[in-house]
Amino acid sequence: MSRDKSVVNKYVAVMAVSGVLISPVPVLAKETKQLVEQLCSSCHSLNNLERSAGYSQEHWKTLISYMVDTGSDTQLTQDISAHLAEHYPVNAKRESKVVDGKLKLNFKYWQVPTLGQRARDPVQGKDGIIWWVGQWGNILGRLDPQTGEMKEYTLPSGTFAHSVSLDKNLTPWFLGNKNGTVGYLDLATEQFKVYKMPDKKARDPHTGVFDDAGTFWFTLQHSNMIGKLDPQNGDIQLATLPTKGSRPYGIKIDSSGTPWVSCNGSNCLIKVDKNSMQLSEIKLPGAKTHTRRLAITPNDMIFYVNSGMGKLGRYNPKTGKITQWDNPSGEDSHPYAIEYADDAIWFNESAKRPETLVRFDLASETMQSWQIPSKEGVYSGLIRHMRIGNNGLIIHQTATNQLAEITWSM
Ligand code: HEC
Repeated sequence: MSRDKSVVNKYVAVMAVSGVLISPVPVLAKETKQLVEQLCSSCHSLNNLERSAGYSQEHWKTLISYMVDTGSDTQLTQDISAHLAEHYPVNAKRESKVVDGKLKLNFKYWQVPTLGQRARDPVQGKDGIIWWVGQWGNILGRLDPQTGEMKEYTLPSGTFAHSVSLDKNLTPWFLGNKNGTVGYLDLATEQFKVYKMPDKKARDPHTGVFDDAGTFWFTLQHSNMIGKLDPQNGDIQLATLPTKGSRPYGIKIDSSGTPWVSCNGSNCLIKVDKNSMQLSEIKLPGAKTHTRRLAITPNDMIFYVNSGMGKLGRYNPKTGKITQWDNPSGEDSHPYAIEYADDAIWFNESAKRPETLVRFDLASETMQSWQIPSKEGVYSGLIRHMRIGNNGLIIHQTATNQLAEITWSM
């Protein structure tokens, strides 16, 4: 089934037509099971249910209301939530461990409009506006955090953007993960400008970043490539990683304008020569090591999440030294998003429920962590990318369809 904006509406319409949505009589257990399986696997696998933290019936109602509209007080909602609470009750399989400390966090949340869109990768411009993409809804979204006003633009058909980055003029550039494109929204005309990859093998633009010269650098995970787009003329250059299946994922620029890339499929980091696009591979220790994303400090230390081993890592490009620290929630915590801010490295433990945010203090090399709060007590996740905004970190929660700003104080 295509993951288009219409997916939710179409499904609910189908159910309404078949009479289930408005059925006043309880459906049989067997039917509810089938219904849940069909409805809940229309966007993602049922593993999400198996692996979930489990919930009470009330909390299941709340959680699914972020994904599908089954009506607020319908028999359908009643039956589905009863089934879920019976088969997926609260469990402690994914419990997180928290390290206390002095810093206090403040979270401000926004709920984005289209349900189940997989809202992700929010980024804030100097003008305060936050842009995000709804990957499964084929959406580019704009939020004015001052007023809470939001607008969702439908991207060109088939784009299914994975991420969005802002250029110097605060124009949002999206990465067309399903149709081999990158493009931007022209803010004056509200029209999209789209660039097609020059090579058919370059299928899946993933995460992007602009350097100070205005060049757009991006990864293509499953194509195993790195791309460079010159916005002056739209020229695109591509380079393939030396190790097959490296799955280039996160990308950041150091103070000299050199792009660095983390490998999600292999134990490596990649340094990109910004002129020749020649790639140098740095091997990281541990065969299970793979790194979703990376962050670079002002003095050019490369920090990465070791998603495969549940560690934070640091590579010193001057000496070649690699240091790793265990995450508070251990080996299977799956650290994912990472950012430098305020003399610290921040990352999340994405496999834990409640999901945590961890702060690594660069001066003392110690960690403090917090459970990411939920306004209704429905602890779900998850952060896939985070970047520093004007006042604090800008994050998202894909399952609950939320964006948030995190600020801190002593
Ligand atoms: C319209 C799309 C859509 C539908 C339909 C949908 N979901 Fe989801 N669901 C999402 C998205 C998006 C996420 C976040 C996935 C991610 O980031 O990989 C998610 C994640 C989840 C998670 C994982 C939460 C966590 O803590 O990580 C659970 C549990 C879940 N869904 C349950 C359900 C159930 C139960 C149903 C059926 C009633 C359902 N979903 C139907 C979009 C959907």
